[in-house]
Amino acid sequence: MNKFQARIEMAGYGDLVVLPHLEFEVSGGELLVLLGPNGAGKTTSLRALVGSADAVQRTIRLDGRDLSGLSAWELARSGLAFVPDGARCFSNATVEENLRGAFEALRPRGAHAERQRLFELVFDLFPILRERLGQLAGSMSGGQRQMLAVARGLMIEPKVLVLDEPSAGLAPKLVEELFEALGRIKATSGCAIVMAEQNFAAAMSIADTCLVLDEGHVALAGPIAEVRHNERLRVAYLGM
Ligand SMILES: Nc1ncnc2c1ncn2[C@@H]1O[C@H](COP(=O)(O)OP(=O)(O)OP(=O)(O)O)[C@@H](O)[C@H]1O
Ligand SMILES: [Mg+2]
Repeated sequence: MNKFQARIEMAGYGDLVVLPHLEFEVSGGELLVLLGPNGAGKTTSLRALVGSADAVQRTIRLDGRDLSGLSAWELARSGLAFVPDGARCFSNATVEENLRGAFEALRPRGAHAERQRLFELVFDLFPILRERLGQLAGSMSGGQRQMLAVARGLMIEPKVLVLDEPSAGLAPKLVEELFEALGRIKATSGCAIVMAEQNFAAAMSIADTCLVLDEGHVALAGPIAEVRHNERLRVAYLGM
């Protein structure tokens, strides 16, 4: 089922509270998009979820199982993959090493066949990675690195995939390809996806629900079909 529930109280950095309160849930096969202008608190929300920003309280559950006290690494072992902003991968390692490393970090004695199956899965979503297997990640284009960063997250076969602005810096064609791939992941893997985005128009094509942040406060939340026509959302937050 992969139902992911999160509740964050007073998240921020040291004494600075960025988000007083945030609460949401996403089911497997659904995508929640976190929208909002620069500085609204999208990244902070995601960091608070995985424990890399401070929070007075963090309650996260996956299928009712309490994961609140777990470290980022333990969360990954429990099926939560976090793909931070900035297309982060190991620049001095090849595409293959980046993918293999993501798999082996959690399954050091993972079966070869299992690894191969996941390789095929990510190559199917991002064919460029198969073509560039031996290339150093640092010499890939920003868009290709973004695909690699998402693929690394998929190598753990996540139950929950958390992505921070995966379309940042990508050309429209690549945004389309990436979102098409995310749509397929959502439909076929049963994974619950939480994604921070500024590209509302593109996100709308695959998101099921949306949560709009404004200066750390939830300005609007609900199913995409409902908020899509919200005048306040379009004018005030998205400039559309
Ligand atoms: N490490 C940090 N230390 C202190 N304050 C921070 C830190 N990171 C972010 N902030 C502040 O927290 C607020 C929210 O920032 P955040 O990065 O969460 O916004 P965002 O919605 O992700 O913006 P963007 O769209 O630019 O990525 C901002 O006012 C920012 O200056
Ligand atoms: Mg951000």
